[in-house]
Amino acid sequence: MSQSLAPAPRRPAIVAALCAAALTVIGLTGAAPPAEPAPSAAALPYQDPTLPVADRVGDLLSRMSLDDKLGQMTQIEKDSLVPQSDLAAYRIGSVLSGGDSTVSPNNAQTWADTYDSLQRTALGTSLGIPLIYGIDAVHGHNAVRGATIFPHNIGLGATRDPALVQRIGRAVAEEMAGTGIDWDFAPCLCVARDDRWGRTYESFGEKPELPTSMATFVTGLQGATLGADPASVLATAKHYIGDGGTTGGVDQGNTQLTEAELRALHLPPFQEAVRRGVGSVMLSYSSWNGVRSHAHKYLVTDVLKGELGFTGFVVSDWAAVDQLDGQSGFTGAEITTAVNAGVDMVMVPYDYKKFLTLLRGEVSAGRISQARVDDANRRILTKKFQLGLFERPLTDRSYTSGVGSAAHRAIAREAVRESQVLLKNDGGILPLPKGAKLFVAGKSADDIGNQSGGWTLGWQGRSGPVTEGTTILQGIRAAANDPSQVTYDRYGNGIGAGYTAAVAVIGETPYAEGRGDRPNGMGLDQEDLSTLARLKASGVPVVVVLVSGRPLDIATQLPDWKALLAAWLPGTEGNGVSDVLFGDHAPTGKLPMTWMRGASQQPINDGDGQTPLFPYGHGLTYGTTPDPDPDPDPDPEPVPGACTAQFRTVASWSGGYQAEVTVKNTGTGPLTGWNVAWDLGGSTVSSLWNGSLTVSAGRATVHSAAHNGALSAGATTSFGFTANGPTGTPATHCAGS
Ligand code: GLC
Repeated sequence: MSQSLAPAPRRPAIVAALCAAALTVIGLTGAAPPAEPAPSAAALPYQDPTLPVADRVGDLLSRMSLDDKLGQMTQIEKDSLVPQSDLAAYRIGSVLSGGDSTVSPNNAQTWADTYDSLQRTALGTSLGIPLIYGIDAVHGHNAVRGATIFPHNIGLGATRDPALVQRIGRAVAEEMAGTGIDWDFAPCLCVARDDRWGRTYESFGEKPELPTSMATFVTGLQGATLGADPASVLATAKHYIGDGGTTGGVDQGNTQLTEAELRALHLPPFQEAVRRGVGSVMLSYSSWNGVRSHAHKYLVTDVLKGELGFTGFVVSDWAAVDQLDGQSGFTGAEITTAVNAGVDMVMVPYDYKKFLTLLRGEVSAGRISQARVDDANRRILTKKFQLGLFERPLTDRSYTSGVGSAAHRAIAREAVRESQVLLKNDGGILPLPKGAKLFVAGKSADDIGNQSGGWTLGWQGRSGPVTEGTTILQGIRAAANDPSQVTYDRYGNGIGAGYTAAVAVIGETPYAEGRGDRPNGMGLDQEDLSTLARLKASGVPVVVVLVSGRPLDIATQLPDWKALLAAWLPGTEGNGVSDVLFGDHAPTGKLPMTWMRGASQQPINDGDGQTPLFPYGHGLTYGTTPDPDPDPDPDPEPVPGACTAQFRTVASWSGGYQAEVTVKNTGTGPLTGWNVAWDLGGSTVSSLWNGSLTVSAGRATVHSAAHNGALSAGATTSFGFTANGPTGTPATHCAGS
């Protein structure tokens, strides 16, 4: 039976701190302290920024009651906090705004005022521990009206530009700082392997090296050192682990892989994020071979915290603890399972009184140890101190006017340009002349909501003028020599002869998470098909701009199109699309996902032996011979397999190291398998994944695995291994088999 948890009394912070200090002295000596002058506000060690963080954490922990500690492990939705004073009464350490949580009026000023009000309440507790406030700023500060909305991750993956992604992270951090909010539930470092998954657009790409390379977003958000400047915000690597690898692309489903495959495909991005000092990791709702990540002590404590050496804190996903027993709501047993697996902070997010009562009961019963509670607190408080929350708890209003700034929108427009992937360009119809007579159609030509997608002014996003920005049509008109030469009708009504081209901006309407799963087909919707039919009937050449969160099943319609530009979900700066359409910026984007010939190929990934419509890495530019329609016939005659293997040491320790080897098909035909050999030079391979090893006379040979042997011309894959002995980049020999 859990004892009820009465709210702890509240006292002005400094008076309480003095009392606590005095009581400590009395406790030690039994005598009233000497009549000393009142210590300064920073008299207590944990309040002294000149002390090492570890010392401050230790001192603060020693002063905390169990209620204080359990409150730090609790994260609640802002809108569930009634009354606001409960934040102090229950010592709650973190607040979040979930996808639909907002303020009114929705602007940066109101968000900052809301944050500061909550923070002042938190600071009113006896120890004055500041709260940390989390939000999903996953493609800009997307909850805030007027903020810059950047391309979703799938488009950023197409840029192949990690430095740009780091700059975007910094811009997002500055806009968050302007509202006070100090913790971003981003980046998603998911490796989307099945495009039917509703969160495919949150992935930078289908191969681990691409999300790994984009972990620069962590450094953009946090800075080189967390808290080094006022705009530094805490980053979150999510969702650990295998969220993008579920069978059938089912959101929150089951990832059925061997450990070697899980490590090879889904762990590298988290290794890189940890290497970059990511402050928090959010667990995945999904399961690995039937066991929920939130209950997986081996993955969370042994691998993430132990093997990878992650020293930040682990946060659960939204009400994910509730799912562990398959029943609705949460129980003490579920809380214990998650906390003992390694969850340090629980995103409850609503019933905090029940949560704290149950959590306290589990600790009192010894099912959650005091050591586990202290470890969780140590991790959380370390990040709060490093972030500077004790010294700078309130909004830095110097950043508030920068929300949605021209400078940030310029970065977003650059990202939109670089994310465009030109998939087809028959006859070099693109770039369009700026004096062309154009007919623009399609539901996403003049719709900020569609071009921004999910997680935009609401969890699911929505169509329409949801925030300030430039639509693709507005961009086209702004770039044209004479805007009156640009006719627009959403449905294509009124088109006739005489137009240079018809630009059809079509694709998907916004969605998020499981609501975006597409198990029953990935084709265009009926409105788009009707619009395309009208355009086709006119005989005007059709250029399609596809606004979508993933590759769509368009092989049937493709022959009717002169050109196809994958725009992904560009966000508020639609003029980045017109920059490419008119050639102010030649397209440079490369596919981050293999593009299916049909939905029946899903999951389809580079190197799996299937023949796609467009391969991973495909992307045309201007001034090159445009590819003919993809040949539906079998691939050209294979030529003797040529390949290269490139070593990269991803981690090293005294006496050993981990390496990743990228294998590239440098021949002109597909490979059905490959072998990579090298001299071991005295080292011995201790574990290996994504291939099979043989060693003879001091030489190692790795043969391709079943799932990565087939490589189309130009395609790459990788295998990894750990070894004892000296690191090095040995000369390798690669041959097709
Ligand atoms: C959601 C998502 C997660 C997000 C969290 C808070 O369900 O899975 O990505 O950070 O809840 O909004």
